[in-house]
Amino acid sequence: MKIAILASGNGSNLQALIDQLHLDPSSGVEIVVTISDRPKAYALHRAKKAEIPTHVVQLKRFSDRNAADAKISEIIEAYEVELIVLAGYMKIFQPQFVQKYRHKVINVHPSLLPAFPGIHSVSNALAYRTKITGVTVHFVEEGIDTGPIIAQVPVPVLDDDDETSLHRRLQVEEHEIYPQVVKWFAEDLIQVDNRKVVITPPKKR
Ligand code: GRF
Repeated sequence: MKIAILASGNGSNLQALIDQLHLDPSSGVEIVVTISDRPKAYALHRAKKAEIPTHVVQLKRFSDRNAADAKISEIIEAYEVELIVLAGYMKIFQPQFVQKYRHKVINVHPSLLPAFPGIHSVSNALAYRTKITGVTVHFVEEGIDTGPIIAQVPVPVLDDDDETSLHRRLQVEEHEIYPQVVKWFAEDLIQVDNRKVVITPPKKR
């Protein structure tokens, strides 16, 4: 299965996907392109190191958001991408893009959605004094962090946690569950039935 990664920052999730899937021919997953909105994103460096083609699509170079989305769509079509994997991608798609790629765009988020959506999810969970937070992998819909949930992993909040320590432990889980979900896609095990995501166990031989 050919996948595209969209990343704006460090790219540790991209690295997990490279190490666990892209570099393992038995995974059936190939990262055919990495796209970023930020030319200096460290994620681009990681992709280049793994010899994965990269593209930068900066919103400011386009007349509007739809035009930037259309450029991303053009790249995705050119590489025959089957699944679009957001990994710390900080831009929001317009409804037209979301509708075109319904159930073909996934995201990883550092909270147990629908709790703590948005960019400050880790500090918001700490400020709320929640005892458990976690990681969610979900389909991307028109709203922010609102799409059908594919998988979630709980992570306890410790008494002495700060944003850095909690995010670090959340990322350990992200780096496991995100490649796992992508693998389920590659094995065609994921179905969506009226917002409920059903993961079928692989048939026994
Ligand atoms: C992750 O915590 C992810 O959940 C959120 O953005 C962060 C990206 O981290 N959407 P990285 O760039 O993959 O290291």
